[in-house]
Amino acid sequence: MNNKTFTIGYSSIEHQSTHSNNVHRSANKYGQNKEEIASLESGYSEFKTEVFDVINTVIKPFLESKTVNLLAIGCRSFHELDFLEYVLEKSFQNNTSVEGVELFNVFNDERITIDNAENFKNIKNKNKNFNIVYSDNNLEHLIDPVNHFKNLIDIVDDEFYLFYVLPCWNDTNAEPTLGHPNLIHCTKTYEDFTINNINEYLNEMFSLAKIDKKVEFKVIHTFSNMLLSNCSFVVKVNKQ
Ligand SMILES: C[S@@+](CC[C@H](N)C(=O)[O-])C[C@H]1O[C@@H](n2cnc3c(N)ncnc32)[C@H](O)[C@@H]1O
Repeated sequence: MNNKTFTIGYSSIEHQSTHSNNVHRSANKYGQNKEEIASLESGYSEFKTEVFDVINTVIKPFLESKTVNLLAIGCRSFHELDFLEYVLEKSFQNNTSVEGVELFNVFNDERITIDNAENFKNIKNKNKNFNIVYSDNNLEHLIDPVNHFKNLIDIVDDEFYLFYVLPCWNDTNAEPTLGHPNLIHCTKTYEDFTINNINEYLNEMFSLAKIDKKVEFKVIHTFSNMLLSNCSFVVKVNKQ
């Protein structure tokens, strides 16, 4: 791994991140049952509404005539998947499916494949082409984000949409976990979260990944939620 670049490389090793204000939405924060999960009014409604709006208004117009297969990376448990199923069912008339990859599957949910998001070895065997990749507070945990993007290319459609949510480090006791190599410079502060910086980060990832296919991408949506201490972006990607 090239650690001379400014996005990958150790930052302040004395700093242990606490994610103190950052909201992770899984566990029971989506709601305890289907009705609560479905309600955009209860619980963490602001975030749920954001996810709903982004899928419904930003991504949907591109996929309206297609079968929509969503992969949630680092989904933790069924809560995130139930919520995403609800959002897709509400947004699309056509067929939709939701699956997840995680390091563990404590509830034995059949939609979750136990896998490492740096190699996708297990989900690759399922030969499914995902066209929405949802990643909520996962990317910053990966030690090898270059291989994450490289191997992702093998499990997606020719045209697909990345919807990534990341913590903003300036509200989270700053910077990744002790000794962690994946410092995402565009989320250091809210001011750093610009389209240029996101492009720079992704350019670096895709060029270091040395993907056989031609990959073109465009950032089509960004959002910062200071209350929840999150940044999110949507990227349209084409591979040939
Ligand atoms: C901060 S949690 C976010 C969980 C959930 N998406 C949410 O927003 O609440 C990060 C998740 O990523 C998973 N994770 C970390 N490294 C991973 C890897 N290499 N491959 C797959 N999942 C990983 C963790 O197990 C954890 O559930």
